[in-house]
Amino acid sequence: MLKVKLTQIRICIIGLGYVGLPLAIAFSKYFSVTGFDLNKSRIKDLKKNVDYTNEVTSSILKKSKCSFTSKLSDIKDCNLFIVTVPTPIFANRKPDLGPLKSSSKMIGSVIKKGDTVVFESTVYPGATEEVCVPIIEKRSSLKLNEDFFLGYSPERINPGDKEKQLSNIKKIVSASNKQTLNLLVKVYSKIIKAGIHSASSIRVAEAAKVIENTQRDLNIAFINELSILFNKLDIDTEEVLKAAETKWNFISFRPGLVGGHCIGVDPYYLTAKAKSIGYDPKIILAGRELNDNMPKIVGKRFIDKTRSLFPKERNLKILILGATFKENCPDTRNSKVESLCNYLVKRNCKIHIFEPNINSVRMFGQSKINSPMKNYYHGIVYAVGHDQFKKYSIKKMRSWTKKGGIIFDLKYSLDQSDADMRL
Ligand SMILES: NC(=O)c1ccc[n+]([C@@H]2O[C@H](COP(=O)([O-])OP(=O)(O)OC[C@H]3O[C@@H](n4cnc5c(N)ncnc54)[C@H](O)[C@@H]3O)[C@@H](O)[C@H]2O)c1
Repeated sequence: MLKVKLTQIRICIIGLGYVGLPLAIAFSKYFSVTGFDLNKSRIKDLKKNVDYTNEVTSSILKKSKCSFTSKLSDIKDCNLFIVTVPTPIFANRKPDLGPLKSSSKMIGSVIKKGDTVVFESTVYPGATEEVCVPIIEKRSSLKLNEDFFLGYSPERINPGDKEKQLSNIKKIVSASNKQTLNLLVKVYSKIIKAGIHSASSIRVAEAAKVIENTQRDLNIAFINELSILFNKLDIDTEEVLKAAETKWNFISFRPGLVGGHCIGVDPYYLTAKAKSIGYDPKIILAGRELNDNMPKIVGKRFIDKTRSLFPKERNLKILILGATFKENCPDTRNSKVESLCNYLVKRNCKIHIFEPNINSVRMFGQSKINSPMKNYYHGIVYAVGHDQFKKYSIKKMRSWTKKGGIIFDLKYSLDQSDADMRL
């Protein structure tokens, strides 16, 4: 790849999910791009210009020159492989490197002398060189930096966010040697208008990404802890935060449920690496534990209050507004709204979920409704701040509750005077 001209680059994006598809479409404006995914139904949909993640519209898919495949034979001619497969955790919260390992094996079976492989998936520092490279070398019998070259460029997109998109988010790029770094900077500069930060090593770039999400997790955990404390002290957390924010160096965060497959997962990659070298990362894990516990804390506060208002009601009827892990996207992976629903169901609540971003009749084993019932609910949990919910006035929302029913606003979406409870 070292002597390859930009015009000779043929990119293969491996893993066409929330990260891989927008990347493939962006690169396809400047390079020949093949999008590869093991999931055949995903490929079938993309060939019909349908993206279930809602990140790329059908008209953009239609216009794009990107081709899609799940056949390895279709990617053999590519010379720059970019890996965007998932990096989840197991139930025991240890990193599940399965997709990274299997994609490395596949690359090892198609890679040729001179090719370059770039990983974008979020990992712990060292994973790309310690886990992926040995698999590629073994499968291909090629040697890193002699026969093939390596890069790591973490993804920072924020699905559902129509302002912060791939091209206007600064991109970190790193590589196994200087020439590969220069080449990758040129390649990524084609699609990234916000600029490139060249990291001094692959481990630095890996660490930078994983700490971005860990820092966010910890900041939210701190504010969650404050909201638990202030609730016990009968002080409104939002009022405290607004007052504290008037100081120039106070950092703004809000309490809430931390779900998804990034913020609630990535810190476990870092802590697994820390433990593997004998360091016990106490602060990171304390934050994780607190955030993982928030559905129970929220559920208990809500149910205690609702029961006190309707003491004779055995089966409280609850409306959940929003069930995805974040606003304006259909992603339900590791949604803490599911944990909240489970908590409420175990306490005999009857749940209706109103989630306009998902097409199904049931969610999390509960009824998913197309519009809330009138005068029906003892309580509403405003769980996700989707734009679609903003069109409902407080009067409309109140019409869904029984007389004396309450609204718990987890997202500070309502005026303080309109919410009966907030975090
Ligand atoms: N979604 C985000 O908001 C976001 C943002 C920044 C970084 N990331 C990171 O990017 C990576 C990808 O995340 P995502 O949200 O796009 O995941 P995703 O689950 O949406 O997509 C991954 C795709 O990879 C495919 N896949 C799995 N194993 C494969 C293999 N061996 N070969 C080919 N395809 C395979 C899956 O079928 C799926 O379509 C993760 O490491 C994640 O942490 C995600």
